[in-house]
Amino acid sequence: MRTLVTGAAGFIGSHLCERLLADGHTVRAIDSFTDYYPPESKRRNIAEFAGSPAFELLTLDLSTDKIDQALAGVDVVFHLAGQPGVRLSWADGFRSYAERNILATQRLLEATRRHALRRLVFSSSSSVYGNLVSYPTPETDLPRPYSPYGVTKLAAEHLCSAYAENFAIPAVSLRYFTVYGPRQRPDMAFHRLIEAGLGGPAFPAYGDGSAIRSFTFVDDVVEANMAAASAELAPGEVFNISGGSSVAMSEAYEIVSSLTGSPTKVDVFPPKSGDVQRTGGAVDKAERLLGWVPKTDIRTGLAAQVAWHRDIRGV
Ligand SMILES: NC(=O)c1ccc[n+]([C@@H]2O[C@H](COP(=O)([O-])OP(=O)(O)OC[C@H]3O[C@@H](n4cnc5c(N)ncnc54)[C@H](O)[C@@H]3O)[C@@H](O)[C@H]2O)c1
Repeated sequence: MRTLVTGAAGFIGSHLCERLLADGHTVRAIDSFTDYYPPESKRRNIAEFAGSPAFELLTLDLSTDKIDQALAGVDVVFHLAGQPGVRLSWADGFRSYAERNILATQRLLEATRRHALRRLVFSSSSSVYGNLVSYPTPETDLPRPYSPYGVTKLAAEHLCSAYAENFAIPAVSLRYFTVYGPRQRPDMAFHRLIEAGLGGPAFPAYGDGSAIRSFTFVDDVVEANMAAASAELAPGEVFNISGGSSVAMSEAYEIVSSLTGSPTKVDVFPPKSGDVQRTGGAVDKAERLLGWVPKTDIRTGLAAQVAWHRDIRGV
């Protein structure tokens, strides 16, 4: 297939590009290299395949630049570009969440109306659910985001279904539950935790370690995108992409310590606004309609991530 991957130089996007190229697909990549974390890290994410003849990089901003041309000849769009992270989405930080998550998605969807796509796969988030009480959470639970970030991801998801219903854009959304693995963003917990275990600064833990997260390995997320690109699906469908096993943060600290071979330095602070106590998604819909199940257990996935950290640190 001829694909367009937005947010291609990011953590998940770069893995997806790698997989698409390995499977013989062509990839047109869009990234604006935002400074949310160092753009050099993003350049490193794509360095190994940037020279491939099947890969084309367009450095442009979906919220401001013309994107029509980028869609020419494309069968499938994987839309991962966005402003991630819960904590900076309050106060003045909200502007970039509104622009990069809502406006960017609306502009992309508007442009897709002029092209015959087979599928648009949107990267949504478990943060659309907020502090819901049913676990594991099914897709049918009423989303009530607990952070402005979650509000913008839900707005983008609703835009996908509105364009699906009004203009038959074949858009579907995947709600990821905390993704981890090699190239994980430097603001994410496992990244900082592993760095702490390898001699970096102590890990600032917000909360007492009892918060439970469903962690999803990045290869499993890539697999879900591949399945969503080709499955027979009604436009506007939404799927949980959740790691299956839920782990308390305190347990994750122990696993990381055992993998790095030294006790992880953890500084404990009170929980921050917007952080939810528990995430865990029901994945039976993804299994039924996408044939997708998470395959990577937390220890195997973390071992791969620790190996990546050792590699970039040269330790
Ligand atoms: N990592 C997770 O645990 C997780 C969980 C749920 C949802 N998601 C979603 O998955 C997607 C990818 O997340 P990630 O962790 O790889 O983040 P990331 O920040 O590593 O990647 C996002 C990429 O999008 C680019 N970008 C941002 N705004 C853009 C714009 N307007 N135009 C073009 N490029 C733009 C950034 O430069 C970045 O390279 C995001 O949409 C995020 O909301 C991630």
